[in-house]
Amino acid sequence: MTYLIVGATGRVASHLTRQLLASGKPLRLLVRNADKARTLFADTLASAKGIAPEIIEGAFDDPVTLARAFDGANVAFLALGTSPEQVVLEQGLVDAAAKARLPHLVRLSVLGAHPNTIYEIGRRHGVLDDHLKASGLPYTVLRPAYFSSNLLLGAPSIAARGEWAGSAPTGRVALIDTRDVAEAAAVVMLRHEPRNETIELSGPESLSFAQMAERLGAILGRPIRYVAMEPHEIRQVRAALGLPAWRIDIGAGIDNAMEAGLNDRLTSGMQRLTGRPGRKLDEFIADHRLAFEPAASVS
Ligand SMILES: NC(=O)c1ccc[n+]([C@@H]2O[C@H](COP(=O)([O-])OP(=O)(O)OC[C@H]3O[C@@H](n4cnc5c(N)ncnc54)[C@H](OP(=O)(O)O)[C@@H]3O)[C@@H](O)[C@H]2O)c1
Repeated sequence: MTYLIVGATGRVASHLTRQLLASGKPLRLLVRNADKARTLFADTLASAKGIAPEIIEGAFDDPVTLARAFDGANVAFLALGTSPEQVVLEQGLVDAAAKARLPHLVRLSVLGAHPNTIYEIGRRHGVLDDHLKASGLPYTVLRPAYFSSNLLLGAPSIAARGEWAGSAPTGRVALIDTRDVAEAAAVVMLRHEPRNETIELSGPESLSFAQMAERLGAILGRPIRYVAMEPHEIRQVRAALGLPAWRIDIGAGIDNAMEAGLNDRLTSGMQRLTGRPGRKLDEFIADHRLAFEPAASVS
């Protein structure tokens, strides 16, 4: 049995990799930087049952690399980071998996994905999920809500000034911990049984950004504020931070979708797959507390 993890150094995929390594599964990792993967998983490997993973380093659009990665793999997990190339890269990966007759592809999508939805990321995943279904590959699509780890993007500002900004003043979000997404993905990969299904994953509570700020404040012991700005203002703030135009557009679309309530939905997928609800936001904040503390911003 060979478990392939594409982009194993990613946020969700790195948790998944650690979980499968710790349970002694034979892993193959397809990464664009092998040194990063070795560093990231050194601790787990040292303490785990110890089958060292096979690491394949290469570009995700190189046919030779992809053929090597999928050769003999029984199940693969696919989650690529957001970039202008994401759709082309993921379509190529799905096509390479279909050519290799991969028995099961588990793909990370997003809650509310649809080719005609109101924001770019949701549309992108709608197109990619449709591409996977049309490929004929046995599949599982996981559609998680907004990640609690997105709060880390605001951590420098929270640490320095006790606030972070966005343009979703009232929308609620059923945010989920990436560790839970990885646990759900591990269950799907380990059950060796593609059911050609789409599973929605949320956390156990739906919160507005102002409520997230309250949770942060209660745990950090100082007031934390979510500064709700007009869409054009937050664009200027993000441009001043040096973000490229495409990323500013993506961020504006996500704020717009969260304000419209696209991720304001509690789902049963996490409980069904893992037998427990997802972690509450408080647990995420407590576990990442240092990132939000003032000392973390000095560097
Ligand atoms: N953020 C959210 O709230 C949220 C919610 C639901 C769904 N999602 C979806 O989850 C997916 C991302 O998952 P994640 O956050 O776990 O991924 P991630 O950490 O951003 O990245 C996953 C992998 O993609 C690679 N990668 C990033 N940019 C690339 C590029 N331009 N070319 C080739 N490889 C690239 C990364 O490589 P390196 O490690 O080498 O950089 C990493 O191995 C996206 O499709 C996103 O839409 C996100």
